[in-house]
Amino acid sequence: MDEFPISRVDCRHRCRSALSQGERTLVKSATELGAVAGQYEKWVYPFPIPDLDAPDVRTRRDGGDFERNWYTFWPDRPYREDLDVLVAGCGSNAAARYAFNHRKARVTGIDLSSASLAHEAYLKDKHRLDNLALHHARIEDVSSLAQDFDFIDVSGVLHHLPDPVGGLRALAGVLRPEGTIAVMIYGQWGRTGVYMLQEMSRLLGLGQSEQDVLTVKQTLASLPKRHAIQDYVSRAPDLKSARAPGSLNRKRGPTNATWQSSMEQRATFSGRRTAARSTPAR
Ligand SMILES: C[S@@+](CC[C@H](N)C(=O)[O-])C[C@H]1O[C@@H](n2cnc3c(N)ncnc32)[C@H](O)[C@@H]1O
Repeated sequence: MDEFPISRVDCRHRCRSALSQGERTLVKSATELGAVAGQYEKWVYPFPIPDLDAPDVRTRRDGGDFERNWYTFWPDRPYREDLDVLVAGCGSNAAARYAFNHRKARVTGIDLSSASLAHEAYLKDKHRLDNLALHHARIEDVSSLAQDFDFIDVSGVLHHLPDPVGGLRALAGVLRPEGTIAVMIYGQWGRTGVYMLQEMSRLLGLGQSEQDVLTVKQTLASLPKRHAIQDYVSRAPDLKSARAPGSLNRKRGPTNATWQSSMEQRATFSGRRTAARSTPAR
């Protein structure tokens, strides 16, 4: 992942007022608990994009990308843009990118990380994304939005939930009957080496302190070239960044099909519940 010259602190400073003025906070107390919340509060994912209009950003596509995948998702329908879209666990950029790339869509982003939402709010403000609403909320509580959606993107999130199937059910509850949900979860085999390192971290009792992160970084740097994690590391440049926390709970953004197909599993489900299709990895 490229480095961007915007720091989380800068972003929060600029975005705090936008978030507090324009966005609703749902079930805040519940979202502030837990290691996952703590991690994404401390280290937003992915690295914040400062400008969605930059040429190198414009060429990247959204995770589920309903425009590109339209006829896979809805083979019997002509393309339209004015969808109600939910980006569940939107992180720092994804909801704003959907809103920026699809101005006629009404996009809602939810996340339990207020730091990530602060950057989404910065992008909303910068690009005047009137079609974007942001909520500090857990997927598990999505019904409290009292909205339903044509398209839901939940990318790199469900595996973090204590009950992923419960989370998927909650999302299904706000999906319209003809709607589609695009799901990306971690791919088991491509992450074999990551699981080894996670197990080591558990055995050593490592947490999220600076010292523990340093220990993980040093361990990574000392592993032999043939260790199972090296394939993952070679495809995860954000792990090598000076700004990277080195946490092995992180996923990196997609850059090529080979990596994506081994590291991630993607599927889409029609709201009609008659079809479950695999989306070709991009
Ligand atoms: C790996 S990031 C993915 C971000 C974004 N979907 C993307 O692909 O760029 C996972 C995000 O899910 C959020 N998250 C984790 N558990 C969540 C939950 N129960 N409800 C809402 N968001 C959650 C985290 O705060 C984090 O921002």
